Amino acid sequence: MSSDTFLIEGGHRLEGVVRVGGAKNSVLPILAATILTEDTCVIEDVPRLADERIMTSILRHFGATVTEGSDLHTGLRTLEVRLAQKVTNTSPPNLMKEMRSSIFILGPLLARFGETTVTQPGGCSLGERPIDWHLEGLKALGASIDVREELERPDVDGRTSDPDGKISYYHAVARKLHGATISLPFPSVGATENIMMAATLAGGESVILNAAREPEVVDLANFLNAMGAKVRFAGSERIIITGVERLHGATHRVIPDRIETGTLMVAAAITGGEVLLENAIPEHVEALSRILHSAGVRIWEENSPYESRIGAGMTGRPSAVDFETGPYPHLATDLQPALTALMCLANGRSLITDTVFPNRFAFADGLQSFGAVMEHFPKARRLLVEGQPSLKPSDVVVPDLRGGAALILAALASPGISCIRGVGHVDRGYEAVESKLNRLGAVIKRVKNCDIPWDHP
Ligand code: EPZ
Repeated sequence: MSSDTFLIEGGHRLEGVVRVGGAKNSVLPILAATILTEDTCVIEDVPRLADERIMTSILRHFGATVTEGSDLHTGLRTLEVRLAQKVTNTSPPNLMKEMRSSIFILGPLLARFGETTVTQPGGCSLGERPIDWHLEGLKALGASIDVREELERPDVDGRTSDPDGKISYYHAVARKLHGATISLPFPSVGATENIMMAATLAGGESVILNAAREPEVVDLANFLNAMGAKVRFAGSERIIITGVERLHGATHRVIPDRIETGTLMVAAAITGGEVLLENAIPEHVEALSRILHSAGVRIWEENSPYESRIGAGMTGRPSAVDFETGPYPHLATDLQPALTALMCLANGRSLITDTVFPNRFAFADGLQSFGAVMEHFPKARRLLVEGQPSLKPSDVVVPDLRGGAALILAALASPGISCIRGVGHVDRGYEAVESKLNRLGAVIKRVKNCDIPWDHP
């Protein structure tokens, strides 16, 4: 991950208008879904993100042509993707281990070509992120999947896919996938998407029970249907897919990124500012808006025939609110770190529970270095935050994507110069985050190293 560092002069209210970009967590499965057809697909409003580059590199590794452009009418960034020929090679281990979502290629490769070998997807600091439900679902559709482990030569950075220096290869074969009813133990977003993509070309009808209901699942289903698939009831916990012989190319504009939306709403609140977000869908951040409203944040909507907008503003100190994350439509776990940062300044005590990931409080130490007061109960996946009247600048290292966003928010709220190291993690999921925040009045400078001695006033 890049060693870029942010120098942030905190204490400035954020004010103004900024546009939310396309959803990272739509773009990644939709890029994988382009494998399902030999035709050309065009995806619109694709943000420039490290994760998107990893996925397009994986597609190019398989021989796909991926051409970047911009839509003549909207000016939005587009990616034109075509994987015309049969894929015979194994996925690239060095790219697969960079990103957990690389596993999304398994279902489409299997459905289109009947056989593939993919290497182990990356883990990340959110704890062990198994893919057992992905594999079980594909087996239910008729795939046989063998796993073999090999010793892995460390890469140039000395890293291997697994701490034990081994790498797993998943060899999947299915002469022809067939319909099946698959009941997920938990509404897993990725497992729902991988199974849904594979089922589009299976013979017969498939039903996914306890399916994830996230907006990005619906967005993917809409793209698949534009390709000629027959996916019904996406967005509900019971998705029905009727297999078809082949899929054709399609053009699709991805939905706005609801996690960027929520992060910017919290940025307005934590700096006591007022921000209007263009290309933002209120329904997608309803759970967050309810919590922010309880904390005393002003939230409003401005809808026009062409797009919807969300406004967020705050004066004074937020009130403490207890909250927990959960599968959509509950509060997104990806917004928990940002909301936790806000609670560090709240008037009172907040009990925060992340029911989705076992280890999503890695950023807590960083917040404490800003003067936040909290107690972590790892087994209960809980954090108890004692809000403070103010925070102070700090020098911290980013642990992961959304934890990094939380630390940036804390720095924005801390008058003085803070140093946020390892923002490459943040670049995975937020496009040009410092440019957007600086346009709203923040003072952030991207540097290679934090060369300001820490006793800098
Ligand atoms: C998606 O990850 C998102 N990523 C995550 O966003 C998001 O946090 C997560 O959904 C939950 O909403 C993308 O969409 C690209 P899950 P995913 O499968 O699909 C366990 C971000 O910051 N599980 O819903 O990997 C898993 O360990 C990222 O943008 C299994 O045990 O999440 C986790 O505890 C982070 N076995 C829980 O289920 C499986 O086979 C939910 O995971 C699959 C998942």
